[in-house]
Amino acid sequence: MDEIYLNGKFISRLSAQISIMDRGFLFGDGVYELIPVYNKKIFLLHKHLNRLKNSLDCIGMSDIDGIEDIIDQLISRNTSENFFIYLHVTRGEQLQRNHIYGKAIEPTVLVMCEEYPSYDKDQIKNGFHACMHEDFRWLKSNIKSISLLGNVMLKNHASSNGYYETLLIRNNKLTEGSASNVFTVKNNIIHTPKLSNELLPGVTRDLLIDLIKNNNMRINESDISQEDLLASDEVWCSSSTNAVVPITMVDKHQIGSGEVGNISLQIYDITKDFIKNY
Ligand code: PDD
Repeated sequence: MDEIYLNGKFISRLSAQISIMDRGFLFGDGVYELIPVYNKKIFLLHKHLNRLKNSLDCIGMSDIDGIEDIIDQLISRNTSENFFIYLHVTRGEQLQRNHIYGKAIEPTVLVMCEEYPSYDKDQIKNGFHACMHEDFRWLKSNIKSISLLGNVMLKNHASSNGYYETLLIRNNKLTEGSASNVFTVKNNIIHTPKLSNELLPGVTRDLLIDLIKNNNMRINESDISQEDLLASDEVWCSSSTNAVVPITMVDKHQIGSGEVGNISLQIYDITKDFIKNY
């Protein structure tokens, strides 16, 4: 876990350094991806790389060559079987601090291995509690930007009040969680907010939609009002770190029976199975 890739070199994490003039450091000018590795195998790499390309494109940067090879090398150098590849690209170092970026800057590319806790089945069966907050982030949340101050504030709003996640509401519509996408179930129909500039196109969201359809269940990508959210039978959050995290309370409101619902558990099992056989 100690070895990382930075700008052409594999070096130890503690010896890695970047310039204080890096635009990622000064402006948060860059994008990132977090990609699971299960049993030494990178998960849904091309979906992550497509999203990376799209994020880079949105901020006027070109695609990064050779990323797959760097990832392969880091996976084989790492002794762990299960971890995450964190991939971070900034616009690079510019010798004067200037909002306007120069055209000939070399991007800074950092790739490293990270570990995040994965919940076991007992924790999943117990469910988690969430809170709600107005979504005060910028209106380009579809870009996986390293400028995460809004998300950081909103995730800490949850954790400092004893919640797992903050569910975000903009104009009375659910957008996503501070670090996850959100699904709801009402009368056996699964719902998730449709893609827009207001939420990240989660790779896990995409996978779950495919798995739901392949298992002949109904999924509806459309607006979910705050009232719809609170009146749901089931709610879960999805992300690359934990694919399905059932939510049984939102603030003081119990979701459905207050127990984790059957559809959430079914989707959890289907996803676990897909990962096992990947
Ligand atoms: N975040 N929405 C937001 C705001 C997120 O930060 C994430 C994931 C997701 C889910 O995306 P995916 O399924 O592709 O992981 C949705 C990662 C885990 C992070 O920032 O660490």
